[in-house]
Amino acid sequence: MTAHTAAQAGYLVAALLFILALAGLSKHESAKQGNTFGVAGMTVALAVTIAVATAAANGAISLAGLGLLALAMAIGAVIGIYRARKVEMTAMPELIALFHSFVGLAAVLVGWNGYFEVEAKGGHPDEFSGALLGIHHAEVFIGVFIGAVTFTGSIVAYLKLSAKIKSSPLMLPGKNLINVGALVAFAALTVAFVLQPSLPLLIAVTIVALLLGWHLVASIGGGDMPVVVSMLNSYSGWAAAAAGFLLGNDLLIVTGALVGSSGAYLSYIMCKAMNRSFISVIAGGFGIAAGPSGDQDYGEHREINAEDTADLLSNAKTVIITPGYGMAVAQAQYPVAEITRKLREKGITVRFGIHPVAGRLPGHMNVLLAEAKVPYDIVLEMDEINEDFSSTDVVLVIGANDTVNPAAAEDPSSPIAGMPVLSVWEAENVVVFKRSMAAGYAGVQNPLFFRENTQMLFGDARDRVEDILAAL
Ligand code: TAP
Repeated sequence: MTAHTAAQAGYLVAALLFILALAGLSKHESAKQGNTFGVAGMTVALAVTIAVATAAANGAISLAGLGLLALAMAIGAVIGIYRARKVEMTAMPELIALFHSFVGLAAVLVGWNGYFEVEAKGGHPDEFSGALLGIHHAEVFIGVFIGAVTFTGSIVAYLKLSAKIKSSPLMLPGKNLINVGALVAFAALTVAFVLQPSLPLLIAVTIVALLLGWHLVASIGGGDMPVVVSMLNSYSGWAAAAAGFLLGNDLLIVTGALVGSSGAYLSYIMCKAMNRSFISVIAGGFGIAAGPSGDQDYGEHREINAEDTADLLSNAKTVIITPGYGMAVAQAQYPVAEITRKLREKGITVRFGIHPVAGRLPGHMNVLLAEAKVPYDIVLEMDEINEDFSSTDVVLVIGANDTVNPAAAEDPSSPIAGMPVLSVWEAENVVVFKRSMAAGYAGVQNPLFFRENTQMLFGDARDRVEDILAAL
């Protein structure tokens, strides 16, 4: 077996492990195993790539190069391990957005490197001739474009998700025209570059793509951010695949395509779950108009304390708990699991209603509840439980806001109009746990808080749930 075949075999094993990882991650029960496959795949991939680079007969990598590689890996590993251990679950999406920006940046650098290695040197006549050279020009250009869009798009997503900039959509006049104009400019520049590659054209496409990525994501409102994150995940996959073509690395092409297509499919599923147009979201909020400011007067809200909530629960036959981002922030899942156990012991039916985008990442609530050992069979998806609210005595809305907002169902002018929500307001009594009357992630006021059957229980969700537990 030659070194080349051995490397290809290693890449094949890694690719298979990545596919097993994706398959494993699609179910709660097998998610851990899926992660292990992913780690194993990445270890094989890294080992083979380093072996290929060091074993290159023409001395492609020097001892100094190897030292630099080890140093880069050590720095990366230290930062990666530190961040992964320290990051709060609620901050995962912004960390992922930041990771995507690195993939985008890497693709831009690989593209630029490709240009300096081939085009700038007049194009290696022995390696690339005729059509092959033209393909190389296109690979450089497309790789840089996708990478740069992913880079700035991910940075804006990071800034929005970490609340460093406002999450409301940027509404520049003629925003659709700006996006279409950038795509037309990209197409024209690509043709020009393939015909006659030059540095000014490469600089021009990099600038156009950086601005387009920034504008695409800035134009999307807070409520649609989950779709944006998975869409950027998909873009980062395509950026990696483009880099794979340039570097002639089959594994990078396969892995990039896996990430690209699974990210695109996840975006599609999330768009369907949230009743959003896929095309509209990937086109930077195409067709979405600015909503009203949301300072409508909904009247007075009512408050309740923990003891009265405990009474309400003790007298109920059926209870549904709808958790949201606030439960994650407060880490209230443990006392919530305790309350659930106590109420079930009293013969009260307790179930959980999980909205597909509750919290800040897909499956966020499911992970927290599983961590606190809430039985899987009482944790239901929105579609499985939405019809049951009207026959429920008490609903506890724990740190959820946008996902239980009736305006989405009832007010066509609301920025979140059309997004399916948990119909908690149909229950006999609703108790909302939050610290203030502040709006949720999408920045939209919630008329639920002012309904006659709703009472607000103010304070940190964990403290309040523990108070109820004590009273029970
Ligand atoms: P949100 O609408 O984000 O509202 C969470 C509420 O929790 C806030 O109104 C906040 O009110 C309250 N809260 C925060 N800390 C709290 C604490 N320590 N104790 C008690 N309450 C606390 O929540 P949601 O209903 O889960 O909706 C998720 C939103 O995030 C959606 O708009 C979704 O589109 C977006 N998003 C989701 C994802 C994914 S994939 N799930 C990713 C990115 C964005 P106070 O400040 O008054 O306490």
